[in-house]
Amino acid sequence: MRLVLVGPPASGKGTQADRLTARYGVPKISTGDMLRAARAAGTPLGKEAEGFMNAGKLVPDQVVIGLVDERLNADDAKKGFILDGFPRTVPQAEALGSLLERRGTPLQCVLQIDVSRDLLVERATLRRIDKRSGQIYHLKYNPPPPGAELEHRADDQEETVKRRLDEYDAMTAALLPYYEKLGLLRRVNGVGSPDEVTARIQSELER
Ligand code: AP5
Repeated sequence: MRLVLVGPPASGKGTQADRLTARYGVPKISTGDMLRAARAAGTPLGKEAEGFMNAGKLVPDQVVIGLVDERLNADDAKKGFILDGFPRTVPQAEALGSLLERRGTPLQCVLQIDVSRDLLVERATLRRIDKRSGQIYHLKYNPPPPGAELEHRADDQEETVKRRLDEYDAMTAALLPYYEKLGLLRRVNGVGSPDEVTARIQSELER
C-alpha cells in the first residue's frame, strides 16, 4: 500500500488515514502532524514553519520534502505508507516521485477526497483533537468522550481556515491534473458519515 490522500483542509484525510492505517498495517505519514510536533518541541524547523502555519500558508517545499525523505527511511515505512497532506504542490509531487523512484517503490494510487467548501469550514472550526492520543473529534459529527483533553488547532479559526482553503485552490488543486495524467488519480465523495466514506475508499482501493 503506497497511497497519497489529497483533499482540501478538513476534508477528512487524517480521519480516513487513521482508519486505513489500522486496516492495511502501514503507517500514516502526515506532514501537518510532523510540523506541529516540531513546532511544539521548539526545534529550528518548527520555528521556521510556525509563521507559515499560523498564517494558513504552505511551508516551503524544501522543508517538507526533507521531512518526508527522512521519514520514508524508517523501518515501518518500508512495507508501505499512507501520505496525508503531502505532496501539496507540483514541485513536492515531482520530488516525491524521485524519492520513490530512488527506492524502487512507486506510488500506487492518489485518492482525492471531495467535499464542498461550505462543509469544510464547519468541519475545521468544530474540530477538536485529544492531546494525549491524537484522536480527531468533531463537536457535532464525532463528539469526544467525557474526560478527553481537547485542543483547538490555532489554524482552525474561521479566517485562517478560509485562507488555507484559498491556498489549496491556488497551490494544491494543480496536483489533480498532474496525477490524472500519470493515471494514478481516483476520486471519492467525502460527504457522508466517516464510516460511509471509509467504505467508499475501501471499495475504490480494492476494486
Ligand atoms: P495539515 O495538518 O495537513 O492540514 P490540512 O491539509 O489543512 O488538513 P486538516 O488536518 O485540516 O484536515 P483533514 O483533511 O486531515 O481532516 P480531518 O480528518 O482532521 O496541515 C496544516 C498546515 O501545515 C498547513 O496549513 C501548512 O501550513 C503546513 N503543511 C502541512 N503539510 C504541508 C505540505 N506538504 N507543504 C507545505 N505545508 C504543509 O477532519 C476534519 C474534521 O472533520 C474533524 O473534526 C473530523 O472529526 C471531521 N470529519 C472527518 N470526516 C468527517 C465526515 N465524513 N463527516 C463529518 N465530519 C467529519
